[in-house]
Amino acid sequence: MFPNLDLFGTCYPESGPAGGRDDRGGEQMTLAFSSETEGRFQKLLARYPNRQAALIPTLILAVREFGYLSREAMAYVAQRLEVPHAQVLSTATFYTLLHKRPLGRHHIQVCMNVACYLKGADHLAHHLRERLGIGFGEVTSDGMFSLEGVQCLAACGTAPAIQINDDYHEDMTPAKVDALLDQLRRTSAPAPTQGGDQ
Ligand code: FES
Repeated sequence: MFPNLDLFGTCYPESGPAGGRDDRGGEQMTLAFSSETEGRFQKLLARYPNRQAALIPTLILAVREFGYLSREAMAYVAQRLEVPHAQVLSTATFYTLLHKRPLGRHHIQVCMNVACYLKGADHLAHHLRERLGIGFGEVTSDGMFSLEGVQCLAACGTAPAIQINDDYHEDMTPAKVDALLDQLRRTSAPAPTQGGDQ
């Protein structure tokens, strides 16, 4: 069973979506990989000497499948890999890219490291917070955008850089940010209602 508090202050509810317990004393699963993700998972297992070694790539699969690592998603990974829950929790909370909270449809990461900071990342972050009405670690009420400050995105030569989902945007200015946000709003379907552990 996972504890109720992780190292980053994510409080998990006493009774969350994880629900009851299975007949081995573990948490009863209501989540499952889709058939496509299950196929990827099986290929992954074949590449590693044992199930435990596949923990990080399996957590990445789970983030892609479920949107973030809820308590239930972590329990599911522990069950599928036959590893202790504590090992999944400690790994998931160590890596910031393994998201433990619901994200917006467009997750915006703003590099706040030295090269970007010297080229105006702070100003850019302030502009994004103002435009979106949210701070780092928050999601807009329509579920469309989430915002996060991160360390070096490895695009220092074209600072300041931001990353939106898998795409990099470099040499950013507030005007470029505005154009990007407008384009994403125009071309995106409404985000589904977010739920789960906060
Ligand atoms: S400091 Fe921002 S990309 Fe390296």
